[in-house]
Amino acid sequence: MSDPENNGSSKRVRVAAIPGDGIGPEVVSATIPVLRRAAELDGVVVDVHELDWGGDRYLRAGEAMPADAGDQLRRDADAALFGAVGRPDIPHKVSSWGLILPLRRELGLYANVRPIRAWEGVPAVVAGAGDVDLVVLRENSEGEYADIGGRITPTLGSQVAVEVAVHTREGIERIVRHGFELARRRRRQLTVATKSNALRHGYTLWDEVVADVAPQFAEVSFELVLVDALAARMVQRPRTLDVVVASNLFGDILSDLASVLGGGLGMAPSANVRPSGGAPGLYEPVHGSAPDIAGQGVANPTACLLSAAMLLEDLDAPVGAAAIRAAVGTALADAHARTPDLGGEATTVVFADRVLRALEGVAV
Ligand code: NAD
Ligand code: IPM
Ligand code: MN
Repeated sequence: MSDPENNGSSKRVRVAAIPGDGIGPEVVSATIPVLRRAAELDGVVVDVHELDWGGDRYLRAGEAMPADAGDQLRRDADAALFGAVGRPDIPHKVSSWGLILPLRRELGLYANVRPIRAWEGVPAVVAGAGDVDLVVLRENSEGEYADIGGRITPTLGSQVAVEVAVHTREGIERIVRHGFELARRRRRQLTVATKSNALRHGYTLWDEVVADVAPQFAEVSFELVLVDALAARMVQRPRTLDVVVASNLFGDILSDLASVLGGGLGMAPSANVRPSGGAPGLYEPVHGSAPDIAGQGVANPTACLLSAAMLLEDLDAPVGAAAIRAAVGTALADAHARTPDLGGEATTVVFADRVLRALEGVAV
């Protein structure tokens, strides 16, 4: 076992912690000791530097993050662990477009990987979802989040807003390709969300690109499913889904829906990554800043902990990643450790301490 203090031969990785707003700081601070401890199992020392990016900084300095935030992360970090943005005293769009959305774009993190699975001890919210195990793979750089549009207000006598979705062959192809590759390592089933019956420009391009790419992955069975029916199927027959590729907005909505199959938003991790390389990944819970429970110390840190497991996996620390998942499983199975969203009474810290204790059990 490596010792962070005196083993000069340990591999070191640099992780930027961006706690952000609301419950972000609560779940990130609960996760960091677990991340460090788990990485040691691979002989990896995690150097964490915390960044004060978020709402406080925005109110203080007029910007949630520095103008060169993307460059800073590229230069100083191998990965970032992000909490959440959003607070009641700042408009949602200011929080989102001041931090998380530009970061994903500036770093070119075009794939947003959002896995969800069932855990022993976590009460099933949806009947029949008991053994769910699926990944929503969200296109993370364009589509409905292109940020092209505006308001045409005064002259028309009514308010008119235009929001343009942008779908490019390159953008669709790289995410669909990543979906096929992911499916090939899992249960070899790819479902692509479409809506080409109504949105007959952008989503017909999606349909065409999927048809073009599919023959290169003959071992993966694939289907195009209209997103409305897919939402219903995700609730009714989630086990028929393995990897679900979706556009930016559809992926956003489907991943919150999928989280409920695994016990709720507190259970859903994510990785924003650039599979073609060249940028640090950004790992974050799917959930937001949860203003309704922020400051109470009761947020479920599982989503953030499992995001840290994804981070370790991507930084080539697979033993630590597996250890976090095993320790989270042990803690979730302990009714005394479960947080209120899972029907328990434990605090964030109690749960995280239980995970740390379970991690000691796997340590060698
Ligand atoms: P939310 O995900 O913050 O909360 C939705 C519900 O889920 C709330 O009842 C909340 O208490 C609960 N919840 C979420 N995470 C939980 C956890 N870890 N443990 C226990 N309960 C949890 O969504 P919202 O209320 O729609 O959004 C609040 C703010 O967060 C908004 O400003 C929104 O824009 C922002 N947001 C940010 C991100 C992000 O930073 N990536 C993601 C989603 C929403
Ligand atoms: C998410 C969030 C963000 C998104 C918000 C905060 C802009 O909902 O990470 O899922 O829509 O991508
Ligand atoms: Mn979302």
